[in-house]
Amino acid sequence: MSFKRMMEKSMRERNSSIVLALDSVPSERGGLLSASLRMLRSVHPYICAVKINNHLLLPLGLHGGVERIIEEAHSLGLPIIMDCKINDIGYTNRVIAENFFNAGFDAVTANPFVGWEDGLKPVFEAARKMNRGVILLVYMSHKASREGYGQTVYDVETNERKPQYIIFAEKALAWKADGAVVGGTYPEKIREVHEVLKENVPIYSPGIGAQGGSLRAAISSGAKYVIIGRAITLAEKPELAAERLREESWKRMID
Ligand code: XMP
Repeated sequence: MSFKRMMEKSMRERNSSIVLALDSVPSERGGLLSASLRMLRSVHPYICAVKINNHLLLPLGLHGGVERIIEEAHSLGLPIIMDCKINDIGYTNRVIAENFFNAGFDAVTANPFVGWEDGLKPVFEAARKMNRGVILLVYMSHKASREGYGQTVYDVETNERKPQYIIFAEKALAWKADGAVVGGTYPEKIREVHEVLKENVPIYSPGIGAQGGSLRAAISSGAKYVIIGRAITLAEKPELAAERLREESWKRMID
């Protein structure tokens, strides 16, 4: 099954569009790995996938540490995404993607700034060969996002003047990406990108809660999945926070 289908199925079966950002979690008992596994087990009924990044990869390492989290996610029936924002030359990008796919990740994130030939083409080739996903950054969630993703530039293909993020959305469509990341902090950008992507490429929106984004605005603007970290992981009762967010997001999805 393709990554896109796997996400769709997980969302429908679990009535949740929440991708848990399992970043550093409070770990008074037993260290970071056991705290991360405990967090995942306690919130898993309320999420449809899990995403990790360097918060866990650097301290835990891929083999032994992060691989335990991948196994746990899969045994709970959850797809798992490596948010590694691949951003190098093709020769290196392919090795990065293959390492994450071989460890068991179902998808990776990548930065379209590096382009296709000798950039992200080898990542898409590796993903297709191994039946995994590639999610592209289109407009990031942080405050300075407009300095890069929001610039108006000349499109080298068409010579037209366009916002960078619209060009990236068009690339996500042309390259048949499995997802596009647009910050939940910018619902107007979600709306514009959704007009380009329609239902062909699902939008993943981080930045809800801790970064100030509104779940309601992100979903009603066209986000299909919401990526949520601290609003769950740092809550006094993470499972309650996840349950509430799931209810709120699911109500919006089926409205
Ligand atoms: P919080 O705690 O702010 O965590 O809910 C958000 C998570 O999402 C990641 N993040 C992004 N990933 N593009 C991405 O691919 C983005 O624009 C973006 N903004 C936030 C962040 O690393 C954290 O894990």
